[in-house]
Amino acid sequence: VKASAENEAARPFLKWAGGKSQLIDKFQKFYPSGLKNETIHEYYEPFLGSGAVFFDIVNNYKIQSARLYDNNEELILTYKVVQQDVEELIGVLSKIEKQYLDLEQNERKSLYYKVREEFNHTSRKFNQDKYSKNLIHRAAQVIFLNKTCYNGLFRVNSKGSFNSPAGHYKNPTICDSVNLLKVSRILSKAEIIFGDYSKVLDDASAGAFIYFDPPYRPISNTSTFTSYSKHSFGDEQQKQLSKVFTRLDKKGAFLMLSNSDPKNNNPDDNYFDQLYQPFHIARIKARRAINSKASGRGRIYEIVVTNY
Ligand SMILES: C[S@@+](CC[C@H](N)C(=O)[O-])C[C@H]1O[C@@H](n2cnc3c(N)ncnc32)[C@H](O)[C@@H]1O
Repeated sequence: VKASAENEAARPFLKWAGGKSQLIDKFQKFYPSGLKNETIHEYYEPFLGSGAVFFDIVNNYKIQSARLYDNNEELILTYKVVQQDVEELIGVLSKIEKQYLDLEQNERKSLYYKVREEFNHTSRKFNQDKYSKNLIHRAAQVIFLNKTCYNGLFRVNSKGSFNSPAGHYKNPTICDSVNLLKVSRILSKAEIIFGDYSKVLDDASAGAFIYFDPPYRPISNTSTFTSYSKHSFGDEQQKQLSKVFTRLDKKGAFLMLSNSDPKNNNPDDNYFDQLYQPFHIARIKARRAINSKASGRGRIYEIVVTNY
């Protein structure tokens, strides 16, 4: 990935499993018309990840305020640092970048594992409600590990340790200062919230646009789904989410939700068709997701649910 140019719009600064950058072009026609007509001013994204849809929307429409949620604490603290202390962050990160790029591949690996170990051994008892400058160093580690790990997968095991192996890149952009500065500017109109997506139920008002991108429903018992955090998101959680969706519909919010189509693996699997039966369900062609061992047919669909 090349560093951004001055004239490009802000884009996700992390590579994230399930990131929607590849689908943005196809998603756009599903956005509510109130974005174009400028009758929608508030945006909510309860499963933020790398925020591909958030960036697309704030770059193209007049959004006055946004609320972004995720229950991955490292992700959230990194967003908060980009929002509040981007210059210090760039200072720390560009030093690590220089150190890394000056090394031979083997030594780069050692540096990677050194940072990973330090990251895993540092206390993670951060008070998410209270921002502190101590988070800058940790956010730099998150970005460094994300840009140099294998596959760019920010993966944690059941104990919450980051365990991706080192990646092998020739010339990775670790500190994309131009983009980070733009992201920081955009985040000034966002509230970044650590916690469960269901908080959106209390926060959202009628007329807001909410996009849900929950973790994919595990394909089968044998698929080793990469978890984003210590928490899992199985069928029970998908069901709870559909209830939250229904309640927000009653509140008068504009809702869009995407998920991997279970029919990719089993054409008779109507799981989401049943769960979101009162709403509009469309299917769009998606690229194969990282790590997906889905059937060999090559075509993978994503479902898009809307209440408008
Ligand atoms: C499919 S990813 C979102 C990807 C995002 N749309 C993008 O473009 O990168 C799902 C995200 O939901 C988060 N998540 C999982 N369970 C959650 C929960 N109960 N509440 C809030 N966020 C959750 C994960 O940490 C992950 O970042």
